[in-house]
Amino acid sequence: MLERITADLAGPGWSVCDNFIPAETVKALATECRQQWQRGQFRAAQVGIGENLKLRPEIRSDQVIWLDSSVLSYPQQIYFDAVEDVRYAVNQALYLGLFEFEAHLTLYPPGSFYRRHVDRFRGSEYRLVSCVLYLNENWLPEHGGQLRLHTPQHETKHVDIAPSAGALVCFLTEHMEHEVLLTHLDRLSVTGWLCARR
Ligand code: OGA
Ligand code: MN
Repeated sequence: MLERITADLAGPGWSVCDNFIPAETVKALATECRQQWQRGQFRAAQVGIGENLKLRPEIRSDQVIWLDSSVLSYPQQIYFDAVEDVRYAVNQALYLGLFEFEAHLTLYPPGSFYRRHVDRFRGSEYRLVSCVLYLNENWLPEHGGQLRLHTPQHETKHVDIAPSAGALVCFLTEHMEHEVLLTHLDRLSVTGWLCARR
């Protein structure tokens, strides 16, 4: 699995990996998300960074909880440990200098989306590899919410990825334009970035 991820990042620059962590861990993460949603702990995601951080619901309408890597729940720790293996393997193979992982829980309520963008705002050039783990069981095409990658290889085409439970998508952050299509059901994920040393 790690070899495939590094080969994909070195080649097309993106990778999809099913069953990245055990199904029971994915379930536990989804349960945690729903509980925190019910307790009102999610916040509308913003666009930009630092002083330029703004609510822009016409660009993105997801809700997030930033994770603190020093106080992770048990299932969150399992996921961070698995990402650590990716970080190590990618550094060994590609010398990217990945240093740390920052991540948030993400919930797209029905009717929400994230318009075409790259995950680098001015001042966030330290993001090197974007990683999204999906938590949605029994996701069907009619539920929407696909991740659409506008891969540099397919200037006029794109790749749509279903946000199905246990799938990890990772891609080189710098040039990959992508969007989250309108979702018709709650769409849960853990979204994160392997970053350079700041
Ligand atoms: C993001 C993003 C993709 C996804 O949060 O920046 O593009 O599939 N997420 O959730
Ligand atoms: Mn993004």
